Amino acid sequence: MKIFSTLVIAAAAAVMAVSCSHSEQCCQNDNTAGIVLDNIMTRTSVRQFTDRQIAPDTLENIVRAGMAAPSAMNLQPWAFVVVTERATLDSLEAVHHHSNLKTATAAIIVCGDMEKAGKDFAREYWVQDCSAATENILLAAHAYGLGAVWCGVYPNPNVQPEVARVLELPETIIPLNIVTMGYPASTSEPKDKWDADKVHYQKW
Ligand SMILES: Cc1cc2nc3c(=O)[nH]c(=O)nc-3n(C[C@H](O)[C@H](O)[C@H](O)COP(=O)(O)O)c2cc1C
Repeated sequence: MKIFSTLVIAAAAAVMAVSCSHSEQCCQNDNTAGIVLDNIMTRTSVRQFTDRQIAPDTLENIVRAGMAAPSAMNLQPWAFVVVTERATLDSLEAVHHHSNLKTATAAIIVCGDMEKAGKDFAREYWVQDCSAATENILLAAHAYGLGAVWCGVYPNPNVQPEVARVLELPETIIPLNIVTMGYPASTSEPKDKWDADKVHYQKW
């Protein structure tokens, strides 16, 4: 058995050596692109979770990924509330009936900080900035083997004030969504959304 696995590893190393012969840097980049694209293409919304807790370091790294997002004029008009307490998860579930928090072990509420947002028309960029942060969070969670789902809050006039009340948010902080997360209870297939008709080259 040991000889067999040694042979397999040697064969894999030989294949890699051949395919990387032109340059080490090239091989590393090809591999990175594959891993990153695979993470993007296999992400899917997950709404049922096991009771396994998420380590605090993992949650912090996921929030770091959120903060790495681009933002208009680099204003970074976001704030994040990380919730792991069962009572608060239940309170959020009670005010957002599609938040899938019943079995979740954590939630990250992505918020816009209006004191950091742009002025005049540029204020509205906060939604795009925080959405970019949210997608980074979803992808980072998926990379950790977690399941997650984006549950919209803003601009729902019934849910938004209730989420703000539960989390005791200051008036200048607007909750954009609840990212519900946990370890997946089952495997889910990603949807195939590629549609060539939606792509236009040069002009419409
Ligand atoms: C703005 C926004 C709001 C959403 N709100 C909810 C929600 O309240 N509850 C929910 O279960 N899923 C919600 N979703 C997740 C979508 O249903 C999901 O992304 C979509 O069905 C595509 O599936 P996929 O994420 O597996 O690719 C929301 C997604 C977005 C982008």
